Amino acid sequence: MVSFFFTLFFFLFIHGSSAVDTISANFTLSGDQTITSAGGTFEMGFFKPGPSSNFYIGMWYKQLSKTILWVANRDKPVNDKNTSVLKISNGNLILLDGKNQTPVWSTGLNSSVSSLKAVLQDDGNLVLRVSNDSNVLWQSFDHPGNTWLPGVKIRLDRLTGKTQRLISWKNPEDPSPGLFSLELDKSTAYKILWNGSNEYWSSGPWNPQTQIFDSVPEMRLNYIYNFSFFSNATESYFTYSIYSNLTVSRFVMDVSGQIKQFTWIDNTKQWNLFWSQPRQQCQVYRYCGSFGICSEKSQPFCRCPQGFRPKSQKDWDLNDYSAGCVRRTELQCSNGDINKFLPLLDMKLADESELLTRTSLSICASACQGNCSCVAYAHNEGLNQCLVWSKDVLNLQKLEEDNNEGNTFYLRLAASDIPKGPSGNSKSNKAMIFGAVIGSLGVIVLVLLVVILVLRYRRRKRMGGENSDGTLAAFSYRELQNATKNFSEKLGGGGFGSVFKGALPDSSDIAVKRLEGISQGEKQFRTEVVTIGTIQHVNLVRLRGFCSEGNKKLLVYDYMPNGSLDSHLFLNQNEEKIVLEWKLRYQIALGTARGLAYLHDECRDCIIHCDIKPENILLDSQFCPKVADFGLAKLVGRDFSRVLTTMRGTRGYLAPEWISGVAITAKADVYSFGMMLLEIVSGRRNTEQSENEKVKFFPSWAATILTKDGNIRLLLDPRLEGNDVVDIEELMRACKVACWCIQDEESHRPTMSQVVQILEGVLEVNLPPFPRSIQALVDTNEDVVFFTESSSSSSHTSSQKQSHSSSSSSKKSTNNNSSA
Ligand SMILES: *[C@@H]1O[C@H](CO)[C@@H](O)[C@H](O)[C@H]1NC(C)=O
Ligand SMILES: *[C@@H]1O[C@H](CO)[C@@H](O)[C@H](O)[C@H]1NC(C)=O
Ligand SMILES: *[C@@H]1O[C@H](CO)[C@@H](O)[C@H](O)[C@H]1NC(C)=O
Ligand SMILES: *[C@@H]1O[C@H](CO)[C@@H](O)[C@H](O)[C@H]1NC(C)=O
Ligand SMILES: *[C@@H]1O[C@H](CO)[C@@H](O)[C@H](O)[C@H]1NC(C)=O
Ligand SMILES: *[C@@H]1O[C@H](CO)[C@@H](O)[C@H](O)[C@H]1NC(C)=O
Ligand SMILES: *[C@@H]1O[C@H](CO)[C@@H](O)[C@H](O)[C@H]1NC(C)=O
Ligand SMILES: *[C@@H]1O[C@H](CO)[C@@H](O)[C@H](O)[C@H]1NC(C)=O
Ligand SMILES: *[C@@H]1O[C@H](CO)[C@@H](O)[C@H](O)[C@H]1NC(C)=O
Repeated sequence: MVSFFFTLFFFLFIHGSSAVDTISANFTLSGDQTITSAGGTFEMGFFKPGPSSNFYIGMWYKQLSKTILWVANRDKPVNDKNTSVLKISNGNLILLDGKNQTPVWSTGLNSSVSSLKAVLQDDGNLVLRVSNDSNVLWQSFDHPGNTWLPGVKIRLDRLTGKTQRLISWKNPEDPSPGLFSLELDKSTAYKILWNGSNEYWSSGPWNPQTQIFDSVPEMRLNYIYNFSFFSNATESYFTYSIYSNLTVSRFVMDVSGQIKQFTWIDNTKQWNLFWSQPRQQCQVYRYCGSFGICSEKSQPFCRCPQGFRPKSQKDWDLNDYSAGCVRRTELQCSNGDINKFLPLLDMKLADESELLTRTSLSICASACQGNCSCVAYAHNEGLNQCLVWSKDVLNLQKLEEDNNEGNTFYLRLAASDIPKGPSGNSKSNKAMIFGAVIGSLGVIVLVLLVVILVLRYRRRKRMGGENSDGTLAAFSYRELQNATKNFSEKLGGGGFGSVFKGALPDSSDIAVKRLEGISQGEKQFRTEVVTIGTIQHVNLVRLRGFCSEGNKKLLVYDYMPNGSLDSHLFLNQNEEKIVLEWKLRYQIALGTARGLAYLHDECRDCIIHCDIKPENILLDSQFCPKVADFGLAKLVGRDFSRVLTTMRGTRGYLAPEWISGVAITAKADVYSFGMMLLEIVSGRRNTEQSENEKVKFFPSWAATILTKDGNIRLLLDPRLEGNDVVDIEELMRACKVACWCIQDEESHRPTMSQVVQILEGVLEVNLPPFPRSIQALVDTNEDVVFFTESSSSSSHTSSQKQSHSSSSSSKKSTNNNSSA
C-alpha cells in the first residue's frame, strides 16, 4: 500500500513538475497532464472552451494568456478528460474517448512503425516521428486550425488544386470548423471565403517586386514579419517569420469572419489587434444570416428586423449570427388575409434580388404585394429600377443616415407583426370609416410630428449639437459671432489664425478658429473641410463644423479644457501648475504618436501635419492628447514659402528637408515629433539657453548622452528628479526613439507607426547614431542657431550646409526672418 502511494507520488512528481515535451510509448496524456515545449513556450493538454463539459486536446502559449492556437479533435469533443487519453498506438497518435476507449481523433497514418514519438517543438509544431529517426511522419503545421503561426505554410497543391485552409471556430466556445476560411488561390492571392465558396475578401495577387499583396498596401509598413512566397510546379505557399524573437504575434481566422493579426503587449498583458481585414464587420458575407440586419454603428453588429427573432438565441448570444432571423408570425398568404410591408430606411440592399426594370415605385409595390412569394421589394429612384426578393434576404445593411447610397427596403410581414399604425381593411363599413378618420388624423399628426422633428433635427445639426455621426455642421458667421461673444475670449494664435472660445446653445463648449490667408475658392475649401471632417481618431481634435462666407472662413472644433501641451510643459518659475507626471508624459507622447500614425497611414490620402509642436497638442479633461490643426497646411496650400510664413516661430521643430527644399514627406512630421518628444522628456524648450555650458542645444546634448551611453537620467526634467515613478525603461525608449526621429536622412527615421510600436514596447529599438547635422553644430562650436528664430544669417548658413539647398527656399526663409 505504502509503495503504491509512493509510486503514485513518484509518478505525479515526475510528470507534474518536470516539463515533458514528448508523448511516447512511455508517456500518455490524460486529465490535467500537459506537455511543454523544450523552451517553455508552448503547452498542450485537455482544455474546455465553454461551460459545457466538452473537452478538447489543444495547444496554447504557456506564458501568455491561455489563447488556444491549435486543436486536435476540433469537432469531436470528449466528455471526461480523466478517462480519455492521447497516446501513441497503431503507428499513430490517437485520442481515445472515455471508458469505452473509442477513438475520436487520429493522425491517420498507415505506418506500421512501433516506436513512434510525438514531440511538441518550441515553434508550436507537434511532430510525429520514429524514435530513432528525424524524418517527420506527420506534423500539426500541415493541419493548421484557425491560427497561422510563424513557420506554418498555407499551401496550394498545384497538381490537385487542393488548398489548405485556415478555418474559423464556429463560436468562441466551439472549435469545430465555422463558416469562414482563408486560402491561397492560383493567382497567388489569399481570399476569405464563406462556407468554402463565396469569396468576400481578397489580398490581391502577390507582387514579387514590392513583396506585398496588391490590395494590402499597409504591408509596406510591415516591419515585424518576413513574408516569403514559394512556388514550383507542385505547390505554392506563403510562410512568414518574425524579425525579432521578442515579438509574439499570430494571425487568426476569427469567428467574426475577419482575418486578424494580434501582437502581444507585455506591459498590459494583452493581445493587441494590429491589423484586420475586411475592415468593416458588415463586409463579411452573410455575417448576420438570413433577414439579419448588419450595422457598423451598433453593438452587437447584428439585429433582427421588427417581426423577426433570432433563429437560434443560443448561437446569437455567442456572437454567431449565421443562422439569421426567422419570422415571429408565419405569413398567411391565402386570399383575404393581408400582409403588410415594413419600410426600413437607409438600407444597403441585400443580395440575390430579382430585377424588374423600369418601373415606378407604385408598380413595384403592387407587383410585390400581389405575389405571395415576394418577401420584399425596393425601388431605386435614380435608375427607376424595381428589385424584388422571393427567398432569403441576405447581407442587409443599415447605413448611416444622410448617406447617399441608402434605399428604403420594404419587408413583407404578417399584419399582426406590424407596429400599431392605422389598421388595414375591415369587414364593417363603420369601422372602416372610423378607421379612415382615425387613420387620416393619425397621418396628419404624424406628418406634423415628422415636420417638427425634422426641423428640430436640422436646427440641432446646424448648431453642431448632434453630429456625432461625423457629419459636419455648417454655421453662419452670425451664429459663431454669438457663440464666441463676438470673438472676445482668445485662446491662442496658431499658425493659421486665431482661436476663440465659444459655447453653443446646447451649452457644449467649442473652439473657433478664424483662418487667415485662405485664398482657396469656395468649392475647394468646402471639399477640403469635409475631408478633414471625416478624419476622426481619439488622438485627433474633432472638427465639428465650419463657416464659409466670402472671406470669412472659420473652423469649429471641440473645446479642450486642459489647453495645449506647452502650457503644462514649460512652466514659468512663478506659475502654480502641477508638474506633469512621467506616466502622463509618456501617455501623451504615445497618444500623439498614434494620432500622427493615423494621419499618415490610415487616412485615404496621407496627411502630413507639417506643424507638430507642443502648441498643437491639446489635452482634454482626462489629459488625453489630441493633435490639432491637421489638414490645414493643405488648406492653406502646399506652397513652400506659404507654409514657412505661416509657421513663424516654430522652426525649432522643422526637419532639415524644409530648408533644403526637397519634397516634404511624412518623415518631416517624424522629425518634429522627435524634437517635441525631447521637450516632453526635459520639460523645456530645445532652443532654450541653459546656464550649464555643456547644454547649449538640448537635442545635441541628448544625442551625446544617448550615443555615448551616459546617464540617461540627466535628460529628465529636473522637476521629476527623485521621483521613483519614473520608469527608466520608458525613459530610455523615449530618448532613443526621439533621437532616431531627428536623424538627417529621412530613411533613417522610423515611421510614426513604428514609433508607436516602439513606445508600446512591442518593437525593440537599437541605440541611434548621432544625427549628423546636430553633430556638425557641436563641432563648429558656434552658438547653436540651427532652425531657431534668433538670426537670419545663421539660418542662411545652416541651409547652405545642406547639400541640396535651393537658393530660392533659403532666400525665402531669410525674408521671413527680416520681416519677423
Ligand atoms: C521508455 O522506457 C524504456 C524503458 O522503460 C526506456 O528504455 C526508454 O528510453 C523510454 N523511452 C522514452 C522516450 O523515455
Ligand atoms: C478528474 O480528476 C480530478 C482529480 O484528479 C478531479 O478533481 C476531477 O473532478 C475529475 N474530473 C472528472 C470529470 O471526473
Ligand atoms: C491507408 O490505407 C487505406 C487502405 O489500406 C487507404 O484507403 C488510405 O488511403 C491509406 N491512407 C494513407 C494516408 O495512405
Ligand atoms: C530504427 O530502429 C528500427 C528498429 O527498432 C530499425 O529497423 C531502423 O533501421 C532504425 N532506423 C534508423 C534510421 O536507425
Ligand atoms: C455550406 O455548404 C454545404 C455544401 O457545400 C451545404 O450543405 C451547407 O448547407 C452550407 N451551409 C450553409 C450554412 O448554407
Ligand atoms: C526572410 O525569409 C527568407 C526566407 O525564409 C530568408 O531567406 C531571409 O533571409 C529572411 N530575411 C530576413 C531579413 O530575415
Ligand atoms: C517543389 O518543392 C517541393 C519542396 O518544397 C518538393 O518536394 C517538390 O519536389 C518540388 N516540385 C518540383 C516539381 O520541383
Ligand atoms: C533572440 O535572438 C537573439 C539573437 O538573435 C538571441 O541572443 C536570444 O537568445 C534570442 N532570445 C530568445 C528568447 O530566443
Ligand atoms: C411570383 O414571384 C416569383 C418569384 O419572383 C415568380 O417566380 C412567379 O412567377 C411570380 N408569380 C406571379 C404570378 O407573378
